[in-house]
Amino acid sequence: ATTDHDDNAGAPSLAALREQAADCRACPLWKDATQTVFGEGPQHAAVMLVGEQPGDKEDLAGQPFVGPAGQMLDRALRDAGIDRGKVYVTNAVKHFKFVPRGKIRLHQKPTTPEIRACRPWYERELAAVRPALVVAMGATAAQSVLGKITPINKTRGRLIDAAGDSAHPVQVLVTVHPSYLLRLPDEDAKAREYDRFVDDLKIVAKHLK
Ligand code: URA
Repeated sequence: ATTDHDDNAGAPSLAALREQAADCRACPLWKDATQTVFGEGPQHAAVMLVGEQPGDKEDLAGQPFVGPAGQMLDRALRDAGIDRGKVYVTNAVKHFKFVPRGKIRLHQKPTTPEIRACRPWYERELAAVRPALVVAMGATAAQSVLGKITPINKTRGRLIDAAGDSAHPVQVLVTVHPSYLLRLPDEDAKAREYDRFVDDLKIVAKHLK
């Protein structure tokens, strides 16, 4: 039991939630995926980063953001002055959705019913961690976190007051998904968009000081 967080003493521990989520059957994605990829990070992190869903590498490792998008995220966090070990990192959808294409497993975007089915896990993570700030990276995360389809470019880079879990409001910052940066074909655009992503993360860095 902690004394510094008596206000969420009733919330389940992340370890308990992770164990429950391992058996989740709330949507069909568990059938083809290797495992549930639950969030990870300090129980009382001030900042929660939310991505879309685990990719191929994450599905195998059982950890969020450890593949190419994770490397991009790590680099941007470093450039923004953020220690990844101090933030809680999770995904809106916790199973990998893919179609087999020869030897590779091709990522598929989760549907609204899949995003909705997984949202209770995000709500439980929120209740357990109680971050001051949630960073929604990309359209799927923004849809889950804000509860509605949200255009990234109109919304990004500013703090929004959101409902959070039932009891506690949170601030939300919407930004792009690191995979978006990986997909940009043009090197100039890539560099420019990377700098914008780091600028968004610098707003986040202020919450960690
Ligand atoms: N993309 C995501 O949205 N999440 C991951 O964990 C990895 C890639």
